[in-house]
Amino acid sequence: MKIYCEKDYEAMSRRAAGILAAQIILKPDCVLGLATGSSPEGTYKELIRRYQAGELDFSKVTSVNLDEYKGLSGDNDQSYRYFMDNHLFNHVNIDKSRTFVPDGLGTDSKKVCADYNEIIRREGPVDLQLLGLGYNGHIGFNEPAAAFEKETHCVDLTESTIEANKRFFEKEEDVPRQAYTMGIGNIMRAKKILIIVSGAGKADIVAKAFTGPVTSEVPASILQFHSDVTLVGDEAALGKLMELV
Ligand code: GLP
Repeated sequence: MKIYCEKDYEAMSRRAAGILAAQIILKPDCVLGLATGSSPEGTYKELIRRYQAGELDFSKVTSVNLDEYKGLSGDNDQSYRYFMDNHLFNHVNIDKSRTFVPDGLGTDSKKVCADYNEIIRREGPVDLQLLGLGYNGHIGFNEPAAAFEKETHCVDLTESTIEANKRFFEKEEDVPRQAYTMGIGNIMRAKKILIIVSGAGKADIVAKAFTGPVTSEVPASILQFHSDVTLVGDEAALGKLMELV
């Protein structure tokens, strides 16, 4: 695993954007696996800046997002489709019809998941998968569980995830209780993985995920078995890990 320990969130974002930009330059028709949350916001800002400076062309890029809340439409400002449109897609020359997010409005969970698996299979393999890390070690919405779920599935969000994500909603009751997410198998089949983490609050889980046992109780720990992982974080998030590696 390659580790880049950067001074702060801005430096982390520049580093992560540089890695994504390199992927797009090397393979203009690449497939990017994309993520939402606070962690990638700065990375997307930097990618937009590079696009506006004429350094990047997204016209042939395909994207598949990790997850989506069940029950939210793409024009709901809390949906991950809305997040992606507003934080990246609307600001670069990506072909929107080549950007994929699970269908939050689909009520037949089996069908939503099967359709999304088919999209990933058809468009994939993912060249570079961007990931954030939940406080409980989740990636996408793969929550700690007794076993790894391999393919796209519908999950019941844990209390800790609802708590962590309520900051984006008006009231805690508004946070959807379920979500669709790529499975661990979908994520692990990406050729390269880029995981970004910031803030002291993640220091314990980062150390646990990358030096502790590989277990479905810490979903990100599976990344120890992937052959091409780059971890980019700020000093606050990587402090503990750097003492151990
Ligand atoms: C959310 C998302 C994840 C994200 C994680 C961390 O629940 N489903 O894909 O990586 O939480 O989010 P943040 O970067 O805001 O801490």
